Amino acid sequence: MAQKYGLDIAKLPVHVGMIMDGNGRWAKKRNLPRIAGHREGAKTVRMAVKTSGELGIKVLTLYAFSTENWKRPKEEVNFLMNLLVEYLVKEIDELQQENVRIRSIGNVSDLPKKALETLKNAEKKTANNKGLQLNLALSYGGRDEIVRSFRKIAYKVKDGLISPEDIDHDLINEYLDTKNQPDPDLIIRTSGEMRLSNFLLWQGAYSELWFTDTLWPDFSKEEYLQALENFTKRQRRFGKA
Ligand code: FPP
Repeated sequence: MAQKYGLDIAKLPVHVGMIMDGNGRWAKKRNLPRIAGHREGAKTVRMAVKTSGELGIKVLTLYAFSTENWKRPKEEVNFLMNLLVEYLVKEIDELQQENVRIRSIGNVSDLPKKALETLKNAEKKTANNKGLQLNLALSYGGRDEIVRSFRKIAYKVKDGLISPEDIDHDLINEYLDTKNQPDPDLIIRTSGEMRLSNFLLWQGAYSELWFTDTLWPDFSKEEYLQALENFTKRQRRFGKA
């Protein structure tokens, strides 16, 4: 039985999703501006990517910016977009070394030009990597993703390329941003909120959930390993007896 950090590797999730919440509260507790929390949160992103790769987890999806996050003050939105660019530029060599393949899900065409260009470059550069697939959910909302996919399907039906009877779970999966990817086995949310907030709504139908009060910038490798260890002990029944 292959083990790492005392974890049974065979029982680890294939796909982990993370709702990175609590950056603002982390900053507030220290009388710092909210953006300081996001900057600190980027360090946790590095830890999560590195640890997932080390453990041979196949897919990590990070909820980096939701469709609703556009309603935040312009300065905060700009800061987050610049932080994304900074992360991708600074980390790209290390991500390459770690064999990480970067992809994005969401309405990324809404991103500012510079952020979109940097993201597309990073996707292109890492396209042949075979290690961890890092999905960055950007301008992402589960409902928005479902609407976009249904619209694409509707056009195909209209053009006579698909008949309504062809529409089933597999077909819908093919039209989602996560096409060809396994569903998340485990979704982790930090900062004490116990909801999905529009994250991977279709794909998360049978995901195991792990909630912690820890704020995202304080979420440590030890606690990630603890969440994974807890997952390895769960019985998944997918609705069966
Ligand atoms: C939620 O905390 C966090 C976000 C909306 C942004 C997540 C972004 C990062 C972790 C930064 C770096 C990301 C990448 C991919 C480089 P919040 O602001 O809602 O916190 P609060 O609920 O305490 O106010």
